[in-house]
Order: sequence, then structure tokens, then C-alpha cells
Amino acid sequence: MKYLIANWKSYITDRKEANSLFLGVKKTIQKNSGCKVIICPPYPFLSDASESNLTIGAQDVFWEKNGAYTGEVTLDMLKNLNVEYVILGHSERRAYLGETDDIINKKLKAALKAGFKVVLCVGEKQRKEPNVIPSVVADQVKAAFLDIPKSKVCNVVVAYEPIWAIGTGLSDTPDNAYQAALYIKKTIGKIYNPKIGTNIKFLYGGSVNSKNILDFISHHGIDGVLVGSASTKKEEFAKMIKLVG
Ligand code: PGA
Repeated sequence: MKYLIANWKSYITDRKEANSLFLGVKKTIQKNSGCKVIICPPYPFLSDASESNLTIGAQDVFWEKNGAYTGEVTLDMLKNLNVEYVILGHSERRAYLGETDDIINKKLKAALKAGFKVVLCVGEKQRKEPNVIPSVVADQVKAAFLDIPKSKVCNVVVAYEPIWAIGTGLSDTPDNAYQAALYIKKTIGKIYNPKIGTNIKFLYGGSVNSKNILDFISHHGIDGVLVGSASTKKEEFAKMIKLVG
């Protein structure tokens, strides 16, 4: 089953609007159950999402369970809200919040240990050659998986999101995304073993919308998409769910 993951980022600021979107998604997936839809709203709306019985993800998490960490949202808090997934390593957190590969590794370890499934984002700022995936992508993967036990890798979905494609309307091509999938699978295969590399789920993200979603989703090497702004538009996201499911 293909993944359709909605990363609302900080676009939605109003609770009523959030609830109306939850309801819309809920109705649409009732009739289209052929894909796995995961909604990742901002933290203040997680509790409403949880009551809507949707599969939910958080857009980040702190690495501790609880304690004196002013402003942080911890693993225990998310557990209590029935959050199943956490997005880690998103390029916007790397860029604006100073998240380093070390921090992402720390969060990945903690989230997996606490039983969450993780959507791990990687991606380059730019390419030297248009169709060659830069080695920084492999570096990010290696750093993230440092000391992650083999048994936990199946709980990670890797989302390849070239930064230049995020929010720009300039999506990558499905063929390049597939090259990234092979590259990432090979990198993970070298860290663990080829079977683990082959089996890891791979998503593409970056300007996915109802016009191009099928190009990515129908590719045999792509297990789904991570969608930002298009997932916050009710009709548009419903259209996407229908196309996939
Ligand atoms: P976009 O964002 O779909 O708005 O390009 C994708 C993402 O950053 O996850």
C-alpha cells in the first residue's frame, strides 16, 4: 500500500480550519482505502486529530521522554496522543532550527526506542549535475542511522526531498527520485545488509500535487509521497487521496 503523508508545516493556524481538514480527510479515506494516509498537523492540533481517528504523525519530537526542557514536545507527550509517526530531519528544521546530523541521529534513536515509526527526511540543497544525486544524501543517511540497531530499521521510512524542489513548484522527475531511492537503499544496504536496504520504504517529497502525484506513486520503486502545501488544501488533498486510493 502506498503512503500519502501530509506535512502541514505551520500553514494551518486555526483550530476550526484544522478540524474541517481532518473531517474532509476522514470522509475521503472512508471511500478510498487503497493508500495509507498519515496526517502530520502542528502540535496544537494533534489532540483533535487523535480524536478524529486518523493515523497521525508529529512534525518533530524532542529526544527525551519528559523533564526540564522548556518548550520541547517530548516522546511521552506524543505517546499519550496516539501519535504513530514522527517526521525527523526535515530540511526546514535543519535550516531554521540548526538541527545537525547529530541531533537528528539522537532523535531517531530515541523515537525508535520509544516505539514510534519515523519519516526520515534527507535531500540536497542543489545538484552539480541535473541527474546525479549528490553524495550529501548518502552522508545524511549514514549519519542518521549511526548506531541504530538493525531490528529497528523497518520502522523508518526515508523521504527524499531535494530542497530546491520544496515549495517551489519545481518537482524532481520520477526517474531521478527513483535514482535517489536506489542510492539510499544501497547506502542502507552497506550499513546493514542488502536485504534491509532493498526493503526500506522510500518516499519522494517536493512540490507534489494532484497533477504530478500519479507520476511518482505509479513508479514501482517509490512507496509514496510526502506532501507539504498541497496537503493543506481541502479539495486538492481529497483529489490526491482519490487518485492514489
Ligand atoms: P511541498 O513540501 O509539498 O510544499 O513542496 C514538501 C515537504 O517539505 O515535505
